Amino acid sequence: MNVLLIGSGGREHALAWKIAQSPQIGKLLCVPGNTGTAHHGQNVPFPLDDFAALIDLAQREAIDLVVVGPEQPLADGIADRFAAAGIPVFGPSAEAARLESSKAYAKEIMAEARVPTAAAHVFATAAAAADFVRSSGAAWVVKADGLAQGKGVVVPDSVEETLAAIAQLSGDLPGQQLLLEERLIGREVSVLALCDGRRLVALPPARDHKRLGDGDVGPNTGGMGVVAPVDDVTPGQLDQIVSSCLQPAIDAMAARGTPFHGVLYAGIMLTETGPKVLEYNARFGDPEAQALLPLIEGDLLEALYGCATGNLQPEKLRRRKGYAVCVVLCAAGYPERPRKGDAIRGVEAVDDNKVLIFHAGTALGATGLCTAGGRVIGVTGLGGTLRQARERAYESAAGIRFEGKHHRMDIGKEPTP
Ligand code: AMP
Ligand code: GLY
Repeated sequence: MNVLLIGSGGREHALAWKIAQSPQIGKLLCVPGNTGTAHHGQNVPFPLDDFAALIDLAQREAIDLVVVGPEQPLADGIADRFAAAGIPVFGPSAEAARLESSKAYAKEIMAEARVPTAAAHVFATAAAAADFVRSSGAAWVVKADGLAQGKGVVVPDSVEETLAAIAQLSGDLPGQQLLLEERLIGREVSVLALCDGRRLVALPPARDHKRLGDGDVGPNTGGMGVVAPVDDVTPGQLDQIVSSCLQPAIDAMAARGTPFHGVLYAGIMLTETGPKVLEYNARFGDPEAQALLPLIEGDLLEALYGCATGNLQPEKLRRRKGYAVCVVLCAAGYPERPRKGDAIRGVEAVDDNKVLIFHAGTALGATGLCTAGGRVIGVTGLGGTLRQARERAYESAAGIRFEGKHHRMDIGKEPTP
């Protein structure tokens, strides 16, 4: 099977690594790919927004399956275009991807499907949202409707902070609808499921660490590290999350005639009254993929193809025993102004089967490997216990050196933060 993989982050390196292990893999083309994907396939430097040229490439290379990593091309309709050209795609249509690209739409689906979630109000203008907040006399979680690369949500503590958040988000993301949401209290967990339009297979529950600093302080980032599975979600709770938070949304999308093919990612708050959905994403998380894909046993490529073609066979995917801890090594200045061009050393030395190195923001310069983005490398440690996985990840992380390297020290620390 010839595969075209879209994207260039750590997530796509993890996908390329796992897809390349399939006995069915033929050619693996990565557009544009990165230093890591180049170990498993062929990188093709191509603009992601030229869909006609991408389809042309896929037809020329006899591609059997397109796998889309990031959210933007999905929201822009890349899956629809490939599907129209008769090429199976792992990744939802633009309409189904609205579960991520419009928070107001996601709320509409959740209401229709009776998925437990925070109460929310949608406003067309900042002024209308501010009026509502003043008359409610309470603090609200403020969200911009559309894709915002993790910068579209503020969780204020007071009316004043809520009003400031409305002003900030409407200034940063002009023209978007705003949502005011009831604040939920609890621990967060992410549950990702492979979906074929009707059926789904849930992956182990994972926990992202979005804040820059240890103990969840500092600015939000794309994700500083992931632990999977998380032990505070029991198998019974995972079943409950699947049946109350994921399957009903898949059913609702199918009933609307816009079935969801791809990864449905539910960000969940474990509240006192049960799990509630904070958000949906329509793709693998980054760095969630770097922790979750190593925990899958079985042929991922076959499963992705099954999702694309409505023929997922859940019994064929098994979960590997044990834990994965992914620690993200960041460049100097991340997240505000990441510096590029610092030489990276020590990467070759660490690959030992219990630790996986996933490239995100690296480049191969004239003098060797160097930093080329904010999140540089994800180091995933695997182990029979959480502690072993964590120790392996941190040992290897210490051996990778570049000027300005920084990372969280508390990923997978027991009890998980
Ligand atoms: P989202 O992109 O919607 O998942 O929001 C990003 C982060 O904001 C989440 O991971 C939560 O930490 C927080 N958040 C979002 N919605 C709520 C809510 N209703 N109550 C409390 N925290 C929230
Ligand atoms: N790590 C968070 C995300 O991919 O959305």
